[in-house]
Amino acid sequence: MIEVRNLSKSFGANKVLNDISFQVKEGEVVAIIGPSGSGKSTLLRSLNLLEEPDEGVIKVGDVTVDTKLLTHQNRYELRQQSAMVFQHFNLFKNKTVLENVTLALTSSKRKTKAEALQIAEDLLEQVGLSDQKKQYPATLSGGQQQRVSIARALAVNPKVIFMDEPTSALDPELVGEVLKTIEQLSKRNITLVIVTHEMKFAKKVADKIVFMNNGVIVESGAPEAVFSQPKEERTRKFLLSTREDATLEYVI
Ligand SMILES: Nc1ncnc2c1ncn2[C@@H]1O[C@H](COP(=O)(O)OP(=O)(O)OP(=O)(O)O)[C@@H](O)[C@H]1O
Ligand SMILES: [Mg+2]
Repeated sequence: MIEVRNLSKSFGANKVLNDISFQVKEGEVVAIIGPSGSGKSTLLRSLNLLEEPDEGVIKVGDVTVDTKLLTHQNRYELRQQSAMVFQHFNLFKNKTVLENVTLALTSSKRKTKAEALQIAEDLLEQVGLSDQKKQYPATLSGGQQQRVSIARALAVNPKVIFMDEPTSALDPELVGEVLKTIEQLSKRNITLVIVTHEMKFAKKVADKIVFMNNGVIVESGAPEAVFSQPKEERTRKFLLSTREDATLEYVI
């Protein structure tokens, strides 16, 4: 579903992604972990060209682009393959919950108003927000806003959903409801790539863990392997450093 070859990106003299290659299979849930500044967000944002890499080939779903040969057309086509969930939700403040979800359907997916309403109401029910559909984002809790943004991402029926620290802007007591929603998604055949600091969640929900440091993938593999028997010293050190922070209980 995703194939990245030799992706590199610098900001000035700072090489943030250094010749990264990896693959994600259809339906796989991948958690990207790593220290602050290691390039996780830049990698994710590169996959839908919110950041433009200097070099490399990106395939998402049916579309392959060489990042040195970007055009208006292939940029658009690549972006159409995925949807993104951001740390700070990025909902439209002047639109209701329902309008936030229907907007992409009536504009870029060319659904009729009635079709868009049907899809949006169904998705809002799935994320437990039917009762809030007429409200504006500012009147919702952070956890509810993030669940709206997950419904919005699902609405366009993307091949892949990217999530960049979907719970790190939330108050601790709201993290669980969003992680549960993501876990429910992970059980469907949706390909998910999630940057997260929630190690327990990553261990439980991901099929594959990717550990990044200094712009490279240091190691990747099944959660049991990476968490219990990391091959690389750098991974071991990182996991030890997160253990003390792992105070958030994630209970299903
Ligand atoms: N727009 C930008 N301009 C210049 N430098 C940037 C830009 N975006 C990111 N960087 C730099 O790139 C490096 C990687 O940043 P990135 O945001 O990808 O890290 P991260 O792994 O997501 O970190 P965190 O866990 O803190 O979110 C950092 O050194 C950062 O300062
Ligand atoms: Mg980041």
